[in-house]
Amino acid sequence: MTEQTIEPTLHSNQTGTLNFEPLGNREFLLDPYPYFEKMRKEAPVYRHEGTLIPLVSVFSHESVKRVYEDWENFSSVNPHMKQGKRVFGSLLKMDPPQHSRLREIIGPMFLPGFIRQQEPMVRAEAKRVISQIKNQTHLEVVEDLAGVMTVGVICNLTGIPSQDHQLIRDWTLDGAKIEGNIYFSKTYDDKAIGKMAAVGGRLMGYYENHVDSLIKQPGDDLISKLSQSDLTRIELIDFTQLLVGAGNETTAGLITNVIRVLLQHPDVLEQVIADQSILPTVIEELVRFWPPVRGGYRHAVNELELEGVKINPGDTVWVWGASASRDENLNEDADKFILDRKRRQHIAFAKGVHTCIGNALARMETRCILEEFFSSIKSLKTSETPAEPLSSMTINGLASLPVCVEWK
Ligand code: HEM
Repeated sequence: MTEQTIEPTLHSNQTGTLNFEPLGNREFLLDPYPYFEKMRKEAPVYRHEGTLIPLVSVFSHESVKRVYEDWENFSSVNPHMKQGKRVFGSLLKMDPPQHSRLREIIGPMFLPGFIRQQEPMVRAEAKRVISQIKNQTHLEVVEDLAGVMTVGVICNLTGIPSQDHQLIRDWTLDGAKIEGNIYFSKTYDDKAIGKMAAVGGRLMGYYENHVDSLIKQPGDDLISKLSQSDLTRIELIDFTQLLVGAGNETTAGLITNVIRVLLQHPDVLEQVIADQSILPTVIEELVRFWPPVRGGYRHAVNELELEGVKINPGDTVWVWGASASRDENLNEDADKFILDRKRRQHIAFAKGVHTCIGNALARMETRCILEEFFSSIKSLKTSETPAEPLSSMTINGLASLPVCVEWK
């Protein structure tokens, strides 16, 4: 994969305004940054036309941060959902004070001391993954390296037995491919909605059985520990689902994106192969430069204005966090991958009450697998088989990244 300039295929519609259509746009899904740059310059807050649900996209750091931080105006509770209906990933889809209660129970589990305690387990998982692929000269990074690693770690943490890891991986990947896409749809797609419900139903059924068996017979995992807290059975099931969903494709995307960006920066790639001690800095810059989450959403509660665009109650507001982290007002030379930045700012783990609780774990996991990988290889090159995009509005990753490896 070489660096190239892509001219985004944004065009004007009949009224002369800019048309931003990310759904199913291969070029955007592979590299959204030329689009983000144009949108930040020309329409940092943009109202989509013709979507089933009124939708506004937000690209600038100023407005992304505002939406994330202002939960009273930009709620995580979906007003289109029936009251009292159970929603997957409920912590993520709640506002204070309900959200605060759960976060206070769960948050302390992810403090640095806990993360440090997990490192031997994570390291062992990384070694296992590398031993399975070692000597394979052709690798598919997403499936063979990143995906198996992150599903292994999150399943170990939540007590899911190893025979089910692949099943969980397939289901969460199915979820990631469709999560959020519905907000960009212009037609009611029965098939897509049915697929989403089927994936959700299968996962929920699995987690219900899993949590019930841990309540009966607790193990040494996080969910067994939480079963001793004030969480109800339903809250425990929802949290298991959220944790596995939130911790899997995101971190797999981070691992994949490090490799993808290093292939575009051969000088840094050579340094990393020679000395893995620079990996923490590489990961920090990567999280800013090509974070694995491109966007998320909130629901507008009140009428207000964002950078001159009127927001109506009931609008879905799509926050393109990956665009915000490349905002020229936030970082100098924001479009360049620079390891020794004086000041590095990003919004990759969101802001406000829903700031990611797994960010330290994600960084540690990524460092462990990449240390094991880069210390085992002599060289890494792109394959002739091109990378394939992931058709997701939320995950800023790839469906596949084939590479050629020379092992030590
Ligand atoms: C590089 C990897 C990761 C990235 C980029 C990431 C990013 C994010 C973002 C942007 C949010 C906020 C979403 C929103 O407000 O709409 C979030 C929330 C969350 N993340 Fe992560 N995440 C990552 C890894 C993880 C991991 C490894 C875990 C757990 C094992 C995790 C658990 C969570 C949870 C539970 C929330 C919800 C927090 C709340 O609602 O209070 N994440 N993450």
